[in-house]
Amino acid sequence: MSFISEVREKAKSLNNRIVLPESTDERVLKATEEIVKEKLSVPVLIGNAEELTKQAQELGVSLEGAEIIDPINFSKLDEYVAKLVELRSKKGMTEEQAKEILTSDVNFFGAMMVKFGDAAGMVSGSDSPTANVLKAALQVVGTKPGMKTVSSVFLMELKDKIEEYGQLLLFGDCAVIPEPTSEQLADIAASAAETAKSVAGVEPKVALMSFSTKGSARHDSVDVVVEAGKLLTERKVDFDFEAELQADAALVNAVGAKKAPGSKVAGNANILIFPNLAAGNIGYKLVQRLAGAEAHGPLLQGLAAPINDLSRGCSVSDITNLTAITSVQAG
Ligand code: ACO
Repeated sequence: MSFISEVREKAKSLNNRIVLPESTDERVLKATEEIVKEKLSVPVLIGNAEELTKQAQELGVSLEGAEIIDPINFSKLDEYVAKLVELRSKKGMTEEQAKEILTSDVNFFGAMMVKFGDAAGMVSGSDSPTANVLKAALQVVGTKPGMKTVSSVFLMELKDKIEEYGQLLLFGDCAVIPEPTSEQLADIAASAAETAKSVAGVEPKVALMSFSTKGSARHDSVDVVVEAGKLLTERKVDFDFEAELQADAALVNAVGAKKAPGSKVAGNANILIFPNLAAGNIGYKLVQRLAGAEAHGPLLQGLAAPINDLSRGCSVSDITNLTAITSVQAG
């Protein structure tokens, strides 16, 4: 069974409420119908019920089984406003500003539903840039206890060379932190290990990657990666990791054995942590385009509750799949 089929099966047994705030997007409406039909979650749409229903009818789509919430006359709007004022008080947010944001920015309203537990998770981004979804997630939901960093992974489902590299690899961070510090790299590694276990059912073997393997090259950017490895050792994390590996040393047995002898991870890594966002973002797109791997994500990690970002070029099945993944993340 493919990874995504397994996730969809798990999501069916959970039946979580997932908010899809960009509800006027045609693809979201079509995905809503499929999500209900397949019982992947209870989709919650944001907007005017009459207008959304009319738009759906014009598309030949049924919204039966979905919930629709209109922020303007939502019974808990005052509570949501008070919470946003409290969360952003240090930035001087007033009640008027909070009300304006929550009634005009569906990402903030959806994130607040997640904050209050009125939805188990949120999937957005078909109609807004990544940074908008991230800002709503960061400002409203924030990080989970004990975690300072919100980051992301892609679940790369290989179609080729599965014998050599396994079916599923996790790549992080490919979407959030432009230049991570050592502490943030360690956080990304720890979150990715957790995502691997909880979402993918994979036993983590984490490679913190660089252009150097075990001292083969020297540069400040290599030191950042080495330091991240030291932090993970100090934290006594409960997963296998190796810092300062080149990609071939991380993935290819013979190269790993030669360049990092004795390592439990070199040659066997299934989680690749990139040293910065440029490498990560370019890396996952190369594997997607040149190796034909399916890239699921980016899955945000480190948040107190799951919120995930779609690409603006997403398809209907991207939305249904990410909804299923988000539901599984919510547990
Ligand atoms: N983890 C934890 N906290 C964070 C993080 C993070 N990664 N980033 C920002 N914060 C904090 C901020 O410090 C801020 O704290 P404060 O309220 O105490 O001051 C709070 O979260 C809110 O952050 P904002 O001010 O709203 O956001 P910021 O301006 O810091 O920008 C953002 C954060 C949007 C994630 C930015 O780093 C960004 O744009 N990253 C790149 C996103 C992107 O374009 N990715 C590439 C495309 S995606 C793709 O191709 C798949």
